[in-house]
Amino acid sequence: MIDAASIQSTMAALVAQVEAYNYAYFVADNPLVPDSEYDRVYQALVKWEQDYPAYCLPYSPTKRVGGAKAASFRSVQHSVPMLSLDNAFSDEEVFSFGQRLMERLKTLAIGAEGGLIFAAEPKLDGLAVSLLYRSGEFIQGSTRGDGQTGEDITRNLKTVRNIPLKLRGDAIPDLLEVRGEVFMTKGGFQALNRRQKDAGDKLFANPRNAAAGSLRQLDPEITRARPLQFYAYGNGQVQDWPLPSSHSLVMAQLATWGIPVPPISAVVQGIEGCLHYYHALRLKRDQLPYDIDGVVYKVDDIAYQQALGFVTRAPRFAIAHKFPAEEQLTQVLAIDFQVGRTGALTPVAHLTPVLVGGVHVSNATLHNIGEAHRKDVRVGDTVIVRRAGDVIPEIVSVLTDRRLAGMLPLELPDACPVCGGVVTKPVDMAAARCMAGLSCPAQLRESLKHFVSRKALAIDGIGDKWIEQWVEKGLVRNPSDFYHLTLPTLLQCDRMAERSAHNILQAIEASKQTSLARFLYALGIREVGEATAKALAKHFLTLEAILAADADALRQVTDVGPVVAEALTLFCHDKANLNVIQALREAGVSWPSVSAEAVSDNPFKTKTVVLTGTLEHLSREDAIERLQRLGAKVTGSVTRKTTWVVVGANAGSKLARATELGVETLTEDQFLTKLQASE
Ligand code: IVH
Repeated sequence: MIDAASIQSTMAALVAQVEAYNYAYFVADNPLVPDSEYDRVYQALVKWEQDYPAYCLPYSPTKRVGGAKAASFRSVQHSVPMLSLDNAFSDEEVFSFGQRLMERLKTLAIGAEGGLIFAAEPKLDGLAVSLLYRSGEFIQGSTRGDGQTGEDITRNLKTVRNIPLKLRGDAIPDLLEVRGEVFMTKGGFQALNRRQKDAGDKLFANPRNAAAGSLRQLDPEITRARPLQFYAYGNGQVQDWPLPSSHSLVMAQLATWGIPVPPISAVVQGIEGCLHYYHALRLKRDQLPYDIDGVVYKVDDIAYQQALGFVTRAPRFAIAHKFPAEEQLTQVLAIDFQVGRTGALTPVAHLTPVLVGGVHVSNATLHNIGEAHRKDVRVGDTVIVRRAGDVIPEIVSVLTDRRLAGMLPLELPDACPVCGGVVTKPVDMAAARCMAGLSCPAQLRESLKHFVSRKALAIDGIGDKWIEQWVEKGLVRNPSDFYHLTLPTLLQCDRMAERSAHNILQAIEASKQTSLARFLYALGIREVGEATAKALAKHFLTLEAILAADADALRQVTDVGPVVAEALTLFCHDKANLNVIQALREAGVSWPSVSAEAVSDNPFKTKTVVLTGTLEHLSREDAIERLQRLGAKVTGSVTRKTTWVVVGANAGSKLARATELGVETLTEDQFLTKLQASE
């Protein structure tokens, strides 16, 4: 038996905790903890209050809605209170909700024998607002505040693009209060954070915080620049509108007046229908353009809704069925650095395991040292981890108020943790790198894994385990060593069966016939992904042409900007890289060649052509491809070696240079005639 004093102190502590979270969330727009933690503490308080009702504190946050309002905006009284919703966290809790409804309807002598119809809607993760329309004109918009009194944010809401300032259609009520959620799309949030970053302003932790911060700006011009949107989920007070008989009809009517409603709402039969909707939407959650944290079920029939009524904080006829939280609190046990294929050092935090979004998480990436320092994550910290969909878990932020003395900031190691090589971090870059290249075992391992991967040389049967063993034994020091592996060598490896060894050797042999694009991609040149490799191969046709190209020539390729061009030229000027390429070719790696000599004689063969200005009748890519097929070399800058400069509209310095050097120029028409005659 617990004594009265302990019950009182536990309940007082829980009340204080929920109050602190409420204040941070509603007033300061700076949540202290993820919603899941809030829910946990709130539910704990509810449970204690149910078990010991006599000790219930009169000022407990369960007795009112939300937190207090901030002082800076005018107050608005909600004539119909803006309520909250009860939560369900499992299918079982939703079944008991259904049972409670049926029992209550029975005691009210309302028979719902055919089962109940529900409106099922996404639970948007934004901020509740009320929009007041008089004679179809938007006259006042407010926040929820504490549910009774909100803040007048009319000017801010007028900047939200999809909120109609005037309703359309017929039979518009004298007075209509629309309730719904203002939110930020995921894309809008990312774009906003990019802009914030460029301007050196603070980043928002998630779309909900960004929406909150944007709505509560005293300057509506700031709000206007923020990508906010609105979806309605119901109505408040109305005058001169005979309310339709169901919630879904209310929503349909709002839509005809031009009010945005979520396109993914549904009308479903019974609790089974609700759960079916929930599980289907959970699978689609990541593809939605906005964050949702669950779904809401509402008894559709308004007469039933009215009969069921409300408890203090929430309606009895509706419930929010939450998705497993994508954010959780946990502790950082250690932080170490992993070395990737390009030598980048990624700090990885090892965590006390937690369930996030239904999956056990014990590691989270900190992306790079710049990011780790920005978030100031330290060993021992309590942190918020987030895992959305298939995304690698990451640390969102640190609860610095839980930090103890003596917990030191994370330091970048001087030497590579794997090979001891020099680590550098350019001041203007977020990432630090081990400069040892393939002599660093970590970089070698990752490069080899990349080399054999499906989109590279696609060598089947070489799993990570084999690569790790071969690197450790010194059997493979660069990708060309794969081609010198022999049966006896392979058979010396731990747990290598003869059959697997044969298969591996066969796959290695088969990989020798490849394409230039795959070969380029397999080299693992920084910034050169699959698409860029393909574009380079298509443009230059031969490896020699790529190795010889300067930055200007490289930038002729679509999608190759200064960063890719620089990474490529750096790679092509490194002796070690050239040696690996040569060794691979000597080992027999090859691809169908397109050589200028193989092209039949024509006026363009072996000539050097520069394109400048805008061509009207064909795209630049098209022109380049056709010229190359004829054996011409297309370059980016005009020199004495240039045969022709093709001059399109608005040509600039290259035309001037051609005139200066006396290089022959061709108009687009002359060029086309010559081209067609040669093909
Ligand atoms: S109905 C009387 N429907 O969730 C019922 N609320 O946790 C009032 N929310 O304050 C709410 N999507 O801000 C309702 N489809 C939806 C919703 C929704 C998001 C928010 C709303 C509410 C909170 C309750």
